[in-house]
Amino acid sequence: MILAGVKQNKPSAMGIISTLQGQYSDLAALAIIVVALAILISSLASAFKPGLRSIPGPLFARFSPFYRLVKLSKGHAPVFYRRLHETYGPIVRTGPNTIDISDPKAVPIIYGINSKFLKSAFYDTFSPFFEDKVMPSMFTIRDPVGHQALRRPVAQKFSMSSIKSLEPFADECTKIFVDAMKDLEGQRVDLGAWLQWYAFDVIGAITFQRRFGFMEKREDVQDMIGGLEAGLHYAGIVSQVPSLHGWLIGNLWVSKFLAAQPFFKVADPLRTMVQLSKITQECIDEYDRQPQKHGQRPDFLAWLRNEETKGKPMSNRDMMNHLSNNLLAGSDTTAISLRAIIYFLVQNRSVYKNLQKEVDDADNIGKLSTYITYAECLELPYLQAAMKEAMRCHPGVSYPLERVVPEGGTVLCGKHLAAGTIVGVNPAVLHHDKSIFGDDAATFRPERWIESDEEKIKLMDRHLMTFGYGSRTCIGKNISIMEMGKLVPLLIRHFEIEWASDKPEWRVETYWFAKQHGLQCRMRSRDVPARLRI
Ligand code: HEM
Ligand SMILES: *[C@@H]1O[C@H](CO)[C@@H](O)[C@H](O)[C@H]1NC(C)=O
Ligand SMILES: *[C@@H]1O[C@H](CO)[C@@H](O)[C@H](O)[C@H]1NC(C)=O
Repeated sequence: MILAGVKQNKPSAMGIISTLQGQYSDLAALAIIVVALAILISSLASAFKPGLRSIPGPLFARFSPFYRLVKLSKGHAPVFYRRLHETYGPIVRTGPNTIDISDPKAVPIIYGINSKFLKSAFYDTFSPFFEDKVMPSMFTIRDPVGHQALRRPVAQKFSMSSIKSLEPFADECTKIFVDAMKDLEGQRVDLGAWLQWYAFDVIGAITFQRRFGFMEKREDVQDMIGGLEAGLHYAGIVSQVPSLHGWLIGNLWVSKFLAAQPFFKVADPLRTMVQLSKITQECIDEYDRQPQKHGQRPDFLAWLRNEETKGKPMSNRDMMNHLSNNLLAGSDTTAISLRAIIYFLVQNRSVYKNLQKEVDDADNIGKLSTYITYAECLELPYLQAAMKEAMRCHPGVSYPLERVVPEGGTVLCGKHLAAGTIVGVNPAVLHHDKSIFGDDAATFRPERWIESDEEKIKLMDRHLMTFGYGSRTCIGKNISIMEMGKLVPLLIRHFEIEWASDKPEWRVETYWFAKQHGLQCRMRSRDVPARLRI
């Protein structure tokens, strides 16, 4: 009986389910049609939006921001944007509400010190969570008042007078680096990885007097660099449709789940953020246990704590914000620029020899210390020109620096753009502009910064966007120039560096940062006078 009852019930239950399914699937179909129509109408409306309608660009870009998302997910932003401008001219519509500009005249309008163009929602995808609340950093924060509040209390620490005190941190890492290169002499080494470890360890020392130990361990400790790379991958893509972020890592619960789950073994940006916060907190706690013992330390952490004793208190949150942002903004960027310098030197023997001669000549008259100082490296004009030129040819940030057109609209390249339109200039595109840098704009040629007349050099300088432009320009520029300017001539002094890859070139993957792979080199020691050995 019971069995029969079950048997009898089954079909009827199934019947109910299938009727329900029928109704639901009708509803679902209707919903899909309604949503599709809404998307179609709104994308048609935005595609033909007055003002933007007349701006040239790829057809699909007019309808959907996903056009850029898909294109940029391949990691070739510089090529993608250069081609767009070659095809369509100086102003290109790259999305329903997004415009890319390569006109030099637009740069001061968009980015100038007094400009009202604020950062776009692009930057939100780079803001981490801290204690369950989004923590916009000095780099990601959009609101100008909040930005000032973050920047003002620390600006002094980035000034020229303070940088001198940070030099010993770079020197201690340089010693480890040079020793390792001597150890690996004659072998093929991934110099790209080593330069990243170097840059990371230096910024750790500068920030809270602790190296991460990448160089000593000769590996990506706790997969932290891999995690950051995954984060850049994510942000470089999702930033093209920032509203997606709130459903992904920008959602507290999704992010908590991802951080807690043990299943994915892949490099995970959240885990790296957690690790970085943990290390940062450890360093803060260690300092706080015996502040008097650390009073004279010149690292950022000690400096900020010392400011507090002068009546400028800082919350734990702001402290974490500044310290972690140093690590995020100052490691990859410096590593990328170091790689670019070494790469272009090694790829062009004549430039390499010129620089070697400049260093050797300076050494012969005793102008350079065993650990070359920041002040000394500024007196090596060919070195400074080569560094600037390498960062021109390969700007670390090679995405458009997105800004929002302010109230009242604006005119760029003769087109009126309404308030709310997103505009951006990509350093990798502007740096190839022949009207500024000459017909050989695409060639690495340091001499352009030395032989050109003064007017021309000023013009070129005004259009370098390696470190951004105007009010949101990089605050760490001189710190990174200090790091690079000290290390590069020292390597040239100690080694003959040669290209050792089977491939003729490096490989670049761009997700906001233009990260290089395959910088395989061989180092051979040179004769160095005893007083200069380390
Ligand atoms: C060669 C190395 C570096 C490059 C190429 C670089 C590049 C940049 C660029 C392009 C921007 C502006 C981004 C935008 O407009 O969206 C920027 C901002 C910033 N950078 Fe750097 N950077 C470097 C090194 C550093 C270092 C070493 C630090 C810190 C120790 C640092 C900290 C910052 C901060 C805090 C901002 C935001 C500034 C603001 O909005 O007020 N950077 N950087
Ligand atoms: C960075 O250094 C240059 C000289 O090399 C100097 O003119 C500039 O004022 C410095 N910037 C800061 C923020 O100290
Ligand atoms: C190498 O550098 C020199 C000097 O800057 C330049 O004139 C030359 O064009 C470069 N060669 C190549 C192949 O880029």
